[in-house]
Amino acid sequence: MKIVLFGKNGQLGWEFQRILPLLGEVVSLDRQELDLCDLHAIQNTLDDLKPGLIVNASAYTEVDKAEVETEAAMKINALAPGIMAEVARKSKAVLIHYSTDYVFDGTNNVPYKEHETTNPLNMYGKSKLAGEKNIEQAGDAYLILRTSWVYSLRGNSFVNKVLGWARKNETLKLVNDQVSNPTWARMLAEVTNLILFKNGENLFENIKEKSGIYHLAGSGHTSRFEWATQILANDPDREGQVVKNILPTTSDEFPTPAMRPLYSALDCSKFERALICAYLIGRVRYNWQCSDRFAGICWRHL
Ligand SMILES: NC(=O)c1ccc[n+]([C@@H]2O[C@H](COP(=O)([O-])OP(=O)(O)OC[C@H]3O[C@@H](n4cnc5c(N)ncnc54)[C@H](OP(=O)(O)O)[C@@H]3O)[C@@H](O)[C@H]2O)c1
Repeated sequence: MKIVLFGKNGQLGWEFQRILPLLGEVVSLDRQELDLCDLHAIQNTLDDLKPGLIVNASAYTEVDKAEVETEAAMKINALAPGIMAEVARKSKAVLIHYSTDYVFDGTNNVPYKEHETTNPLNMYGKSKLAGEKNIEQAGDAYLILRTSWVYSLRGNSFVNKVLGWARKNETLKLVNDQVSNPTWARMLAEVTNLILFKNGENLFENIKEKSGIYHLAGSGHTSRFEWATQILANDPDREGQVVKNILPTTSDEFPTPAMRPLYSALDCSKFERALICAYLIGRVRYNWQCSDRFAGICWRHL
């Protein structure tokens, strides 16, 4: 099977580059090879390559910048996935796409389920929600996997930011009122691969039967403040830290260009029921707090 992977250098895309070859011949594309703002190029490239599977790990993920770079965010997060879905439908290919907890407004006090009302507070969330709708409208065999607080030791991830801040500042202030599920990028890629592998015999028909939106995130939710505290406690190079105080603050005291939902934890039970056997869940849904997983696996292998 030919597979096209978009966003190969991102947190999730990088993990996919490593494991998608287990499923077939992979053509990985980065921004230089194909700019997703060029909507015709997406269509032409997919028409030429004729993949049986499209994995879209790309996105405009700069939440604050999206407030001003609205056009780019809408093209990359909303229009491009719509085109991918349309091409996939016409050529009987499967589309795997990722969305976000930021489609919700964060007024819940229990984890969000898929059917609950969306009401994004910022342009990033609005563009991702529009992408979901475009795929639902144009798609045939697709999975839209909503995830949250994706982390790795790559790029400008929250983990890297916290480790960097702790090396430059004696006092760190982090919001304690934004809560969601930290999700390891490798877990997302591995679980997705398992699903594709498990449905591989007749991938298009099998995924078509299950097409829809699912929540897939790390188990356990926490605040940015607690998460940062845990990251620093697990830092293998603690001597490099100059930080002495980590203080909780609130979103009101720490305004950003884009508003964030306060409570956007995701309930992943629909995904677990529909897409993965129980014995695999324990293996692959890493809890952010579980020290052997978080400290051991993450630090050693990222
Ligand atoms: N990060 C999070 O906390 C988070 C939370 C919830 C949901 N998600 C969703 O999870 C998925 C994966 O996120 P991630 O954290 O892995 O994202 P990421 O690290 O920011 O990677 C995004 C990728 O998209 C590529 N891209 C952006 N604009 C492009 C363009 N115009 N043309 C071609 N490629 C372009 C980037 O290329 P460059 O490397 O060239 O920039 C990068 O490789 C996304 O759908 C995201 O919305 C993420």
